[in-house]
Amino acid sequence: MDSVEPSGLQPGEGAPGCPQKGLLQPSDSSELVQECLQRFKVTRTQLQHIQASLLDSMEQALTGKASSAPGVQMLPTYVDSTPHGNEQGNFVVLELGASGASLRVLWVTLTGIKGQRVEPKSQEFVIPQEVVLGTGQQLFDFAARCLFEFLDAHSVRNQGLQLGFSFSFPCHQTGLDRSTLISWTKGFRCSGVEGQDVVQLLRDAIQRQGAYNIDVVAVVNDTVGTMMSCEPGVRPCEVGLIVDTGTNACYMEEARHVAVLDEDRGRTCVSVEWGSFSDDGALGPVLTTFDHALDHASLNPGAQRFEKMIGGLYLGELVRLVLAHLAEHRVLFGGYTSSALLSQGSILLEHVAEMEDPSTGAARVHAILQDLGLSPEASDAELVQRVCAAVCSRAAQLCAAALAAILSRLQRSREQQILQVAVATGGRVLEQHPRFYSILQETVKLLASECDVSFIPSVDGGGRGVAMVTAVAARLAAHRRLLEETLAPFRLSREQLAAVQTQMREAMAKGLRREASSLRMLPTYVRATPDGSERGDFLALDLGGTNFRVLLVRVAEGGVRIVNQVYAIPECVAQGSGQQLFDHIVDCIMDFQEKQGLRGQSLPLGFTFSFPCKQLGLDQGILLNWTKGFNASGCEGQDVVYLLREAIKRKQAVELNVVAIVNDTVGTMMSCGYEDPRCEMGLIVGTGTNACYMEELQNVAGVAGDSGHMCINMEWGAFGDDGSLGMLSTCFDVRVDQVSINPGKQRFEKMISGMYLGEIVRHILLHLTSLGVLFQGQQTQRLQTRDIFKTKFLSEIESDSLALRQVRAILEDLGLPLTSDDALIVLEVCQAVSRRAAQLCGAGVAAVVEKIRENRGLEELTVSVGVDGTLYKVHPHFASLVAATVRELAPRCMVTFLQSEDGSGKGAALVTAVACRLAQMAHV
Ligand code: G6P
Ligand code: BGC
Ligand code: BGC
Repeated sequence: MDSVEPSGLQPGEGAPGCPQKGLLQPSDSSELVQECLQRFKVTRTQLQHIQASLLDSMEQALTGKASSAPGVQMLPTYVDSTPHGNEQGNFVVLELGASGASLRVLWVTLTGIKGQRVEPKSQEFVIPQEVVLGTGQQLFDFAARCLFEFLDAHSVRNQGLQLGFSFSFPCHQTGLDRSTLISWTKGFRCSGVEGQDVVQLLRDAIQRQGAYNIDVVAVVNDTVGTMMSCEPGVRPCEVGLIVDTGTNACYMEEARHVAVLDEDRGRTCVSVEWGSFSDDGALGPVLTTFDHALDHASLNPGAQRFEKMIGGLYLGELVRLVLAHLAEHRVLFGGYTSSALLSQGSILLEHVAEMEDPSTGAARVHAILQDLGLSPEASDAELVQRVCAAVCSRAAQLCAAALAAILSRLQRSREQQILQVAVATGGRVLEQHPRFYSILQETVKLLASECDVSFIPSVDGGGRGVAMVTAVAARLAAHRRLLEETLAPFRLSREQLAAVQTQMREAMAKGLRREASSLRMLPTYVRATPDGSERGDFLALDLGGTNFRVLLVRVAEGGVRIVNQVYAIPECVAQGSGQQLFDHIVDCIMDFQEKQGLRGQSLPLGFTFSFPCKQLGLDQGILLNWTKGFNASGCEGQDVVYLLREAIKRKQAVELNVVAIVNDTVGTMMSCGYEDPRCEMGLIVGTGTNACYMEELQNVAGVAGDSGHMCINMEWGAFGDDGSLGMLSTCFDVRVDQVSINPGKQRFEKMISGMYLGEIVRHILLHLTSLGVLFQGQQTQRLQTRDIFKTKFLSEIESDSLALRQVRAILEDLGLPLTSDDALIVLEVCQAVSRRAAQLCGAGVAAVVEKIRENRGLEELTVSVGVDGTLYKVHPHFASLVAATVRELAPRCMVTFLQSEDGSGKGAALVTAVACRLAQMAHV
């Protein structure tokens, strides 16, 4: 290795230092030539050092904890798979920044059939220097004009054109079509672009030019386009390498290693941006005075130091600096220079490539030099050729060291003994410079001997690859549109919510007057909230939420103490016969009494019964209809207190004194009212939803008395059962309703409460799957299962602290294996559904508090609402969305939401206690 020629790797460390111009006193010219060429020699040890240092820099950048030293950037590209070969369609590709100051437009047709290729049409445009160094707007306007010129020339029909933008500068991508330029490289310096989304800039320019309707679907680095242009072959093509004006590579990294992505599965393409690598320890010894001089005079001094030793933009310049140096020291051109030789940028990559080629004759070299205004002597051609070879060999070797670092990285992360991989290559230096290519390959073989690498030149200069990515991005964008269309009916405007509030107000008024209304506005015979003087021990039952509970409530001077036990109500009981249900309830009470040592005591009992009941007094409630999955026969139309007393009689073993029957909203209001006298409304958002509030008795038709208040159980779950919510109801709401046990009933509840939100989400997911937006269009059996998607999943999935991978874990537990894209969609569906629920609920609360305010003739009302229910309490955003909606729709009401901690059983006991106190007073 140490004597490989012509690259001429030398043994030992470091090239000799670079003496300052003028201090150099060579004994003769050949010594000076030797010394000068020697500076471009890089030893194997140095290359290995660069390889190791670059690998280290890559790994640090992947963890997101890179040190402050400028290293490689490791930028995610949002390309997650190499081509499948089935991508198809016509795409416009715009390439900017790959090949110097030029721009290319291509029309690429993907057939979707492996191996079947259609030649792309393409056209190249030279970007004027004043544009390269002008404003961003000038540059993007120029690009848009070229684009239109191309489309005009090729008579492309102006119909839904999809464009892939190959933009070859370091960018922070946050999606396939979102990419912020970090910094210009390679001689570009347009103002106002760094820090901006280049896709947006291009879109704006296209719009300014007007003529064509083009959708910029994807933005791609040239390395990625190159990798993606590789035909699927025997070995995976997982690296893209570019050596053109600049240099860079991308490769497929394990997604779990890319810290910024928060992804734990699959692979993702990372653009290394190795041009910015500049570890002093590793590069310092190989940097020459010529490199420093070049950097100094560049547009971006101090930046892209590695690129400036490799990229085609710089090779000619390095050669020029060396030739000028040798001429100044009379070793070349008889000591004469020319103004061209002393001018930056006069020697181009093409010149170097040609002169360096051993087959190029001396005459041609002479001709090139003469074009530079020089008068070469006979021996000069050979020396100039050696200079070109030295500069290019070093570039190829450094590039090989960097590529070897990627291969080591791949091998390490794949844990393979022998890594078999294909590297797609592109860029003029590689395409037009056979020597560069062969030195690169030889050196890679030496530095990464454990890898079996094949090099595959890219097809169509990467344009095809850009089209591939565009095809994928277009599919994703189409999916997004379908998702947006699907979720649009769930996104309610302020006007729609205000209309719900108004309708609710009207329905309340009608219900109170006993006119036809979907709101029953049931009097509860609760006339006052507790005053604190209530005392005693009470029993309470709490039936109708997630849990059935029996409670012992002690109301004493120091406060309320509760002992309670939860009992299950099996579905067969909830939906069996009424007798079974009430017998089961009494069994549970007996068990509780036994455990609490209460047998034989006849304590006053409050019964929280969370279903619509027409009350004729405090201890009489006719069940109007079951809700929330209960359907025990023989109960509707019956007094539930009577049914309970009958069951007690059947058991004969207990004596119970049922004093009050209370809806859970009322229990919650009472329970919170014990702590806060301003609590005049109760709200439940749990399995079902409902609200109650204190109404002026004079407004309540059918109850005697004109003064004072009465708590009204609104039964707002049934709001809209007269069809008034039809405008808001989506096809998913209709499906959920149709398969429920009470079709057409509880329409408001079915849009809001915990029993139904999971089902709505499930129906949306089924629909999105049928559109191919989710699960790659594969319907899974699990998702067809009713109630599989519990509302608690919405709460879990929407939790802010949860990473996307955890969302996926939740869904995988459900038997729904999905990708990160799928998980993101599921999250958005959950958010849309729960947001609508919270906003509808807020519109309802706004209607109620406004009614209370107006009843009292107040400019402003300060009121508290007691709230309970699993959805409200557990969901991470529900409560704040309700509050925000109320603020928006009822700005004159200062509403405080109090969460009930003890359930409504405590409230039922308090209602019972108040009743007992009043009865005692009446007795006295
Ligand atoms: C309250 C009650 C339950 C009520 C429930 C609603 O605290 O004690 O009887 O129905 O909350 O919540 P859930 O989520 O259980 O339906
Ligand atoms: C840019 C890269 C690009 C490379 C090759 C570099 O200057 O920073 O994004 O891939 O040139 O064109
Ligand atoms: C019932 C209400 C109850 C609400 C909350 C609804 O289904 O009809 O009476 O308050 O659920 O539990």
